[in-house]
Amino acid sequence: MLPSSNLKLLAAIAAISKPALSVPLTPLGPAVADCSRAVLAEAADAYVTAQSTGSLDALKKVVADKWDFEENNKRIDATKSVLSKKLKIDHRRTNFDLVQCATFTELIAADPANPYVIGTQIRHGADGRVTLIDSVASTTGSWLFDAKKTLEYALQEKWDTIPEGKRDTREHIQAAGDAYMSMWDNATASEAVPWGTPCARLEGGAYTGKNRPDDSCKAGIPSNHNQAPNTRRRYVIDEAMGSVNILCVWEHMMNAADSHEFRLENGKLRYVHTMTECGGRTCKL
Ligand SMILES: *[C@@H]1O[C@H](CO)[C@@H](O)[C@H](O)[C@H]1NC(C)=O
Repeated sequence: MLPSSNLKLLAAIAAISKPALSVPLTPLGPAVADCSRAVLAEAADAYVTAQSTGSLDALKKVVADKWDFEENNKRIDATKSVLSKKLKIDHRRTNFDLVQCATFTELIAADPANPYVIGTQIRHGADGRVTLIDSVASTTGSWLFDAKKTLEYALQEKWDTIPEGKRDTREHIQAAGDAYMSMWDNATASEAVPWGTPCARLEGGAYTGKNRPDDSCKAGIPSNHNQAPNTRRRYVIDEAMGSVNILCVWEHMMNAADSHEFRLENGKLRYVHTMTECGGRTCKL
């Protein structure tokens, strides 16, 4: 047992379970009436319970009659997915998109017997029920995979709620993520990334941060801008967290399934987290 991690997990659960008075619902009519933070949090919690018990039972009360499961960019039977593996989860963070009625959850299971780092978007229908669970599940063989290091670095970072009045717009947050994701196939995209200093990128288990004020996320960005694009982008945007998660097809590396999450502070890039899974094979450039 890792008591400090468990305490952090409990604290994280407590933090997301609080009603967010600061995030008003957009009055778009009955279609989104049930898209409250509480509804999203209940489903994300049920998802984490399902993963930590290795059983879909916990999801039964939150899913729609018909719901889909996607793992590493493929629609598969959830009972045959990573959700059927009981994982010892050391870290969990959920971000909320009240406009799209969706969440993104990052899970880290550092257990050397069963290591996983998973990024999951959960989408809800008009009645608040879950219609899609869409996951990138990285493990041994995934790009720079090292769950123990991922955990160690992720726990050093501070993903606190950004006070109202200091939040960036959804458009700015998404454009920052999109510009970054376009650096592989667009020579001018990097000029549109609002690079921040310090900034740290957690890429698989590799970390560009050195705990220095001049840490930069420009380390190791693509110099070849004629590569295949990152396509089929799916977004979860949380203004209170300053974050956008993008799941996509990482075409230039074995058509991998990829998750990139960006956090901005004061308009500038502060953290990047990546997970890249190469269809069960060892990722290679
Ligand atoms: C390349 O990126 C720049 C900066 O984001 C953008 O203005 C331009 O439209 C992009 N070009 C293409 C072909 O997508």
